Amino acid sequence: MRRYTRALLWCTVFAVFSGWYIYSQLQVNGDHDDHGGAGGGGGGRHADSAGRRRIHIPFVDKNPHWFHRYIMRGQTVPGGLPGPLEAPSMHLAVVACGDRMEETLTMAKSAVLLSVGHLHLHIFAEEQLHAGFRDTLDSWPGSVRARFNYTVYPISFPSDHAVEWKKLFKPCASQRLFLPLILKDVDSLVYVDSDVVFLQPLDPLWALLWRFNATQLAAVAPEHEEPRLAWYNRFARHPFFGATGLNSGVMVMNLTRIRSAHFKNDMTSVGLRWEELLMPLLQKYKLNITWGDQDLLNIIFHHNPDGVHILHGNRGVFHNLKQPAFQAAYDAIRQYPFGADPNATLLAPLERALLKTTNTYCGKSHALLTKALARSLDNINRRVPPRRSAT
Ligand SMILES: *[C@@H]1O[C@H](CO)[C@@H](O)[C@H](O)[C@H]1NC(C)=O
Ligand SMILES: *[C@@H]1O[C@H](CO)[C@@H](O)[C@H](O)[C@H]1NC(C)=O
Ligand SMILES: *[C@@H]1O[C@H](CO)[C@@H](O)[C@H](O)[C@H]1NC(C)=O
Ligand SMILES: *[C@@H]1O[C@H](CO)[C@@H](O)[C@H](O)[C@H]1NC(C)=O
Ligand SMILES: *[C@@H]1O[C@H](CO)[C@@H](O)[C@H](O)[C@H]1NC(C)=O
Repeated sequence: MRRYTRALLWCTVFAVFSGWYIYSQLQVNGDHDDHGGAGGGGGGRHADSAGRRRIHIPFVDKNPHWFHRYIMRGQTVPGGLPGPLEAPSMHLAVVACGDRMEETLTMAKSAVLLSVGHLHLHIFAEEQLHAGFRDTLDSWPGSVRARFNYTVYPISFPSDHAVEWKKLFKPCASQRLFLPLILKDVDSLVYVDSDVVFLQPLDPLWALLWRFNATQLAAVAPEHEEPRLAWYNRFARHPFFGATGLNSGVMVMNLTRIRSAHFKNDMTSVGLRWEELLMPLLQKYKLNITWGDQDLLNIIFHHNPDGVHILHGNRGVFHNLKQPAFQAAYDAIRQYPFGADPNATLLAPLERALLKTTNTYCGKSHALLTKALARSLDNINRRVPPRRSAT
């Protein structure tokens, strides 16, 4: 039941954001047609009166180079702007254990297939899965391979408490809490659970990082929009974020800020750094937590609500594969052979599958979903000429 209501939530939220996304693109298209130079006014970003930068989601179709300029202008680079080839990658992290390899690869495939900017995948996995990940990712065709880099990491915890973390949760479960400490050279990151499928580019989610105000360090979705159906406010035996708790399935994180912040807490009167916070929190609440590390994140952000940028749904992200519509999207992407005509081999099967699910809520909004996907695919077609060789 809980999974079903969750699915319904993600579905609703996705539908709303697809609409919003398409709308905002049309808006920006209308507003910002100039292709001015790097210092010029194009790209749809403005400074507000406080000097903070506001970002409009740029219109990808019209100007395929928007993201280069956008990233260039998003960074303060002394002594000049980097060229397009130096545009930093978008970082995407996932944790995969047990039988989650295929699911994780499908998530990665959807992200690589639809995203506009260059991706760096950070895959945390049990050692026995490493070769499988490398073999599959390296087997993708060159034109696809050129759009991402990847690193495969073992599951690891800070050495002083490794045994405790492994013992207390399933070996993989709490890995994501340690991403800021392990990925020391990475400034920002989108974390997703392995059961996520992208139906739109990662780019707009990544762009949220530039919308953070001075105190925000993570964008996270509420666990539920409807308190009467939500879990935390009815059952949790620990503090949680907001009215209904937060869901950690998709998190946009500024790791630099997480590493340097001092977090308020209910253990000492002084702020604690991320690495000082986790172990005492676990010790204090370990008998009261139900959903593992997500509960710890809820406790942390209960005491530090200013750090959260609310993600009212996950743009372009599909969650929870139990729903027939989710399953249809997942299967369509998993079975898509790289290089094949996406209209015939991705969109058409997806549409057929979704039509069969019109008795479910998500099935009814399938037109919206396939429209969003069609637009994303259209971007790709313009960017990368279809290849019909290796799949
Ligand atoms: C991707 O990896 C290649 C080879 O490892 C490297 O030359 C390139 O700089 C990397 N690109 C990015 C954007 O990190
Ligand atoms: C754990 O739950 C119990 C029962 O609801 C509560 O009395 C206790 O204060 C909780 N522990 C913490 C550390 O909040
Ligand atoms: C993350 O935060 C740091 C410190 O505030 C900032 O310098 C950096 O630009 C931020 N990264 C992004 C992508 O906004
Ligand atoms: C950032 O936004 C949050 C609301 O999400 C707010 O509580 C906080 O005060 C804001 N911080 C600044 C510095 O404006
Ligand atoms: C795919 O379909 C769209 C219309 O839905 C069309 O505009 C586009 O040209 C098609 N692409 C290919 C490669 O056939």
